[in-house]
Amino acid sequence: MKSWGLLLVAALAIGSSFGVHKNNFKTCDQSGFCKRLRSFKPEKSQYSLNLDTVIVHGNVLSAEVNTVDTTTQKRIILWHYALRLSALVDGTFRVEIDEADPLYPRYRTQLALNGEPKADGLKIVSNENGIITVANSQGHKVIITAEPLKLEFVNLAGDVAVILNDNAQLMVEPLRVKKERVDDEDTNLVEVEEEGTWGENFKSHHDSKPRGNEAVSLDFSFPEADNVYGIPEHTDKLALRTTTSGDPYRLYNLDVFEYELDSRMAIYGAIPVVYSHGPKRTAGVFWHNSAETWVDVVNYADSTVVSSLVNLVTGGQKRRVDTRFISESGIVDAFVFLGEKPADVFRQYTQLTGSAPIPPKFSLAYHQCRWNYVDEADVRGVDDNLDNYDIPADVIWLDIEYTDRKKYFTWDPIKFPHPSDMVANLTAKGRKLVVIVDPHVKREAGYFLHEDATELGYYVKDKDGKDYEGWCWPGSSSYLDFFDPAVSKYNSERYLFENFPGTSKDVHLWNDMNEPSVFNGPEITMPKDCRHYKPPQDGNDGLAAFWEHRHVHNEYGLWNVRSTHEGMLQRVDNKYRPFILTRSAFSGTQRYGAVWTGDNAAEWGFLAVSVPMCLSLSVAGVSFCGSDVGGFFKYPEPELMTRWYQAGAFQPFFRAHSHIETKRREPWLYEAPTTALLRDANRRRYALIDFWYTLFYEHSVDGLPVMRPLFQEYPHEEDTFTIDDQYLLGDKLLIRPVVQPGVSSVPVYLPGAAQRTLWYDVDSYHAHHAAGYFTQDVTISKIPVYQRGGIIIPRKERIRRSSSLMADDPYTLVVALDVNGTAQGSLYIDDGESYEYRNNKYIYAKFKYESNAMTYSFPNENAHYPTRSWVERIVIAGIKTPPKTAKLHQGDKQLSLQMTLHKGNDVLVVRKPGANMAHPWKITFSY
Ligand SMILES: *[C@@H]1O[C@H](CO)[C@@H](O)[C@H](O)[C@H]1NC(C)=O
Ligand SMILES: *[C@@H]1O[C@H](CO)[C@@H](O)[C@H](O)[C@H]1NC(C)=O
Repeated sequence: MKSWGLLLVAALAIGSSFGVHKNNFKTCDQSGFCKRLRSFKPEKSQYSLNLDTVIVHGNVLSAEVNTVDTTTQKRIILWHYALRLSALVDGTFRVEIDEADPLYPRYRTQLALNGEPKADGLKIVSNENGIITVANSQGHKVIITAEPLKLEFVNLAGDVAVILNDNAQLMVEPLRVKKERVDDEDTNLVEVEEEGTWGENFKSHHDSKPRGNEAVSLDFSFPEADNVYGIPEHTDKLALRTTTSGDPYRLYNLDVFEYELDSRMAIYGAIPVVYSHGPKRTAGVFWHNSAETWVDVVNYADSTVVSSLVNLVTGGQKRRVDTRFISESGIVDAFVFLGEKPADVFRQYTQLTGSAPIPPKFSLAYHQCRWNYVDEADVRGVDDNLDNYDIPADVIWLDIEYTDRKKYFTWDPIKFPHPSDMVANLTAKGRKLVVIVDPHVKREAGYFLHEDATELGYYVKDKDGKDYEGWCWPGSSSYLDFFDPAVSKYNSERYLFENFPGTSKDVHLWNDMNEPSVFNGPEITMPKDCRHYKPPQDGNDGLAAFWEHRHVHNEYGLWNVRSTHEGMLQRVDNKYRPFILTRSAFSGTQRYGAVWTGDNAAEWGFLAVSVPMCLSLSVAGVSFCGSDVGGFFKYPEPELMTRWYQAGAFQPFFRAHSHIETKRREPWLYEAPTTALLRDANRRRYALIDFWYTLFYEHSVDGLPVMRPLFQEYPHEEDTFTIDDQYLLGDKLLIRPVVQPGVSSVPVYLPGAAQRTLWYDVDSYHAHHAAGYFTQDVTISKIPVYQRGGIIIPRKERIRRSSSLMADDPYTLVVALDVNGTAQGSLYIDDGESYEYRNNKYIYAKFKYESNAMTYSFPNENAHYPTRSWVERIVIAGIKTPPKTAKLHQGDKQLSLQMTLHKGNDVLVVRKPGANMAHPWKITFSY
């Protein structure tokens, strides 16, 4: 929705230009642990493994690790640590390093994993000369060097894919008791504590740091990699850049007003997973930590990396990328993915953290939003105009102004007196409503939520244990502590229809500001020494009785959306699928909702960056991603608006949104030719709605990104490694949005030359032979989209007001033939909103085309759905020898079909096959 812009109105009014207020946010040097650990560059790691302590039990190797004072000959042990190396299924390993006997337990991230990871077998292969080699049941190996500690992960090809601590940057700062200052004569005996150990300041904010320093860090090297990817959310390129000059990439969920482009600054989301890729292999590391984190990247092939460093670290090998994660607290907990292909590592990550479940179908259609549709008449007007101007839309959204003065779960009694009627009017057209509920709670006497939360102790506490008070939209606000199961349950229950009158199963939710945003907090968020719930355990008192916000910050929003999700399920007896949009994101968020890229602006650069931003989120598990279409701040001129709709129509989450102070810009408010172009973009989305739905079904099963970087499908094609202005939907469509003004052509890279891939322009069915870059001419109405030869795509060409009204409509099947004259595809159908698919009430069908027949078959014979849809038309592009006859076979029925030839006689249209899609069918061709 928006950031704390209103507070800055004064600043803007006196003429400061658009842009981020950088001094509100920390640099690495202003973040105590980042500065401290980034400068820690020992020649040799002090950490070593005690070989006498190694035990393998089940899938876990455990051993003691010690830090040794290497400056003396005597090897004085400084501290004890516990190492656990676990073998998990699917070529994944987990490395945990914690203090062997911490003063009190260190925080372990709680909600990112989708349940306990599945174990694989682990055995010791060899143990000699201070080197232990272990292997999992598949044969992936880990070579552990005891001193200094180093772990090398070996893939099935026998290559080292990932190395831990090769750069000696393993560090776990032990928890300590604060020493009272002793003014001893003999000052040598007084341990001088580093400044900032027990408290830090940023601007006017003081962080009390009651546990002192407790940072962790570790480096991961990827030999023979060309690039690394991941660690969203940033406005940078998909392929991450070397950070030796400037700051590392930062992961800390923040509400950054007018965030800037090409930046490593933290913004709303923080997903600590990184992937390496080169022609030989792909690997990855998931840094399982929810505290503030900074990530350094050194790509030895970058011209900015001096050759002396290349020689020192890699012996002159430029094909290698090193990364280093530094977190403020927690333990070292890293999952290592051994690939070996991009699709393997992306899957390995979603195996751990979950895939998005099948979303309700409407949520894949077009969303119309603004801060704000001001009252019921406004909503009605927008709803009517969508129809008057023939703009298909499934959802109208309400931002914060619908509430009774920013009190969530209430309606403004003047502007929204009849919410049930309003919702009923929308649903009569198959449309839905989404309303916003933010996690800040207005501190107002008489507001039930505030009174309950105060009385029951449900708010996050400040450093002294009192209810924390911050400033947000409602003014003075407090924040629910979702970490407490009782609070989460209470919050979930607020979504029950009886507790949120005016809502129905067709009202869905938007959780914004959940970084959380606190206008007067340090870096516009919650102070790190705030206290969160910790399950009570015997002997947990003092500092062991609660977690600090610093430990959990990046997963706060995840707990928020999980609680919302639970509530939305409960309100309809777990019958209907919820749709939730969240701004904050962490590992695992994809299990509960969609993510958008926050408060962007109506500028070409923000349109362009929506592609790499969503690609980066997508490979990090969040396939359901989009940006505010049109830009949130500022006003998009017709050309930008047109290009943004055209781009948005081919991104997973497709929502137009705008700031309250900008000019209204619903599609019909532009001149007629522009309105027509926006309509056309929406209609293209609706024609492919079943294609999108099928992609998301497949994602729910295989965990692979819906929106894919080219290198996922073409991992050996080096040109694809850095392409982030075009992408694939599944392995089926290639999209190259136009993101620059005034262009009459764009360069498009068509991958797959080695496989003799054909790419069909979806507008003309013209087949391009993949041969790298070519120049695509574009007009203002052109969206460069190509269907891969060998793919069959289902379309619906009778566009209606909303997607649900199209449920029974007939299909047009577009068959794009590969060089061998064959093609295949898939189609998923269910009721679009319930969980009945879990009871086999769905169709997941496969299409197959060969020159003598086209088939539509159900691999799962137990799954059925009584759709009334039928096949209206089959378009076969790239046909060489047209068949003479075509005959449909369905059940006992046989029917001769008519065909027509088009274009240069290479597009064949089979007319009105009429086959019902609820049952298998076959069309035979003769020549
Ligand atoms: C619902 O639609 C009816 C018929 O158009 C209209 O009279 C009524 O005002 C609408 N209700 C709301 C709350 O918009
Ligand atoms: C065409 O068929 C050949 C031989 O079966 C196969 O090797 C090749 O992969 C196929 N090409 C495509 C694009 O499917």
